[in-house]
Amino acid sequence: MCGIVGYVGSKQAQGVVVEGLRRLEYRGYDSAGVALAHDGTVAWNKRAGKLANLEKAVEETPLPESTTGIGHTRWATHGAPNDVNAHPHLGRAGRLAVVHNGIIENFAQLRAELEAAGHELLSETDTEVAAHLLEQEVAAGTDLTTAMQRVCRRLEGAFTLVALDGQDPERVVAARRNSPLVVGLGEGENFLGSDVAAFIEHTREALELGQDQVVTITREGVEVTGFDGTPAEGVRYHVDWDLTAAEKDGHDWFMRKEILEQPRAVADSLLGRRDASGLLQLDEMRLSDGELREIDKIIIIAAGTSFYAGMVAKYAIEHWTRVPVEVELASEFRYRDPILTHSTLVVAISQSGETADTLQAIRHARVQRSKVLAICNTNGSTIPRESDGVIYTHAGPEIGVASTKGYLTQLVACYLLALYLAQVKGTRFGDEIGEVLDQLDEMPAHIQTVLDAREQVHALARQHLGTRSVLFLGRHAGYPVALEGALKLKELAYIHAEGFAAGELKHGPIALIEEGLPVLCIVPPRGRDQLHDKMLSGIQEVRARGARTICLAEEGDDSIEPYADELIRLPRVPVLLQPLVAVVPLQLFACELATAMGHDVDQPRNLAKSVTVE
Ligand code: AGP
Repeated sequence: MCGIVGYVGSKQAQGVVVEGLRRLEYRGYDSAGVALAHDGTVAWNKRAGKLANLEKAVEETPLPESTTGIGHTRWATHGAPNDVNAHPHLGRAGRLAVVHNGIIENFAQLRAELEAAGHELLSETDTEVAAHLLEQEVAAGTDLTTAMQRVCRRLEGAFTLVALDGQDPERVVAARRNSPLVVGLGEGENFLGSDVAAFIEHTREALELGQDQVVTITREGVEVTGFDGTPAEGVRYHVDWDLTAAEKDGHDWFMRKEILEQPRAVADSLLGRRDASGLLQLDEMRLSDGELREIDKIIIIAAGTSFYAGMVAKYAIEHWTRVPVEVELASEFRYRDPILTHSTLVVAISQSGETADTLQAIRHARVQRSKVLAICNTNGSTIPRESDGVIYTHAGPEIGVASTKGYLTQLVACYLLALYLAQVKGTRFGDEIGEVLDQLDEMPAHIQTVLDAREQVHALARQHLGTRSVLFLGRHAGYPVALEGALKLKELAYIHAEGFAAGELKHGPIALIEEGLPVLCIVPPRGRDQLHDKMLSGIQEVRARGARTICLAEEGDDSIEPYADELIRLPRVPVLLQPLVAVVPLQLFACELATAMGHDVDQPRNLAKSVTVE
């Protein structure tokens, strides 16, 4: 999630913009830049790395004075994190600058159109396409506001665009669709920000914008329209957060914020995955279809939560491709002398892309001449750099140490990989693959449904203050969900929590059951009757021995009611996709119980966000 600042007023814009970017550093980024309207053109600078690199650059080569400016901190999605791909991006003649947050899904065809018309684009980004399109409009005599309206009508995807025209220095124009943008209302000055932290030190009067809107800020005021130019109104409000709260979008913890961001993160991770003919395409697949067709074994390696994502992937990949899949802890993988050949595909799942165990494991695999594909949330990190192909998740920076949106978007990437392999190997027809992709497109709404009912889970969690042990049961794709739910509770509430395959109960774990012991049970969708009924048997067995059964079951499944002391409803979704909704109540339960215990859920004791040592 990039950071964006815009300013028009009487102060020196460079200082306002750079300070605003500093307030947005918490969002995570890998490059930063600033652009100023000056003397009929744009003065700018941008640098990969931290904001200090940009500040050093503008200290060495000062920018001219200007009272109109925009700035950006970039979290790389399309294109590596380097100087060229950093924002702002300029139009052909360099009179117009743009910064952008989000993904322009149809940028490839727009880029082809511009290049056919003789435009030369320097970066790998989708943003530069918008800059050329906008400048094309203003160069033809259109004002920047109208230009923004016209260009936005051609864009698909989720985006916040902010632009300035050196020949029209009294305004900054922005647009948003499914991506954050807020206006700061000052006296003789106005601001734009990806969130209020960008301008909160200057003004606490803000204007909330709606979907598909264009906003123009000048010293004198703010004008809002639709993409079609019709006048519109923002919603004015007073910001009563302090800066710390602003960084968390008003939430008490980043983790809570990131749990609630999951519908957006999943939607963003699905964006742009189909080409013009509807076929699946992945970010950077440097493996040919021929090489992929030769793959006769897949080994997934990861650690922690990412390992549990890999366990879900096994069910999906084997079901859709019939290729055998092993899932291995990265820390164990290379010490067991694995059997690897050139037709083995090693899939490394890592949110950070820097986990030492996983990195060492892929290095071992490459020495054995196996192909390596990374699933990663951090563009340009070490693991994708050392892999043959990569599928980037687009969760945005995950600040909380305990992975939530990182995990859900890993599941999405795993499903996409499974479908891509099925497409290349021909083990599923195009319409079957399309059907699953359509089902995946519905998942953000289903996840939102679970989040909308979170108060029930929060109340349930608070009832368990003082609990010393919790068990989690699941079957099939629900088994890795049980393991992930247990890990969340361990790492946040510091209490004993263990996940089991429900079919294992009678082989030992049932000895743990005692009066009042909470057991969270993920009930398979009724689409798998045999599995569903066996799960009900397991629930009855633990309840008969005194367990307090907290059951997660899909809407309409009434068969579970006699056996559930607590019932948390899940939306009805396809069997293999149920982990995307089933894990969310477990995240909420762990986060709420831990915060009720007074724990810091963003920085749990003894844990690091990225374990870069073995
Ligand atoms: C998950 O909540 C933990 N933070 C941890 O298990 C994490 O998933 C693991 O360390 C792997 O990290 P990675 O995905 O960045 O490789």
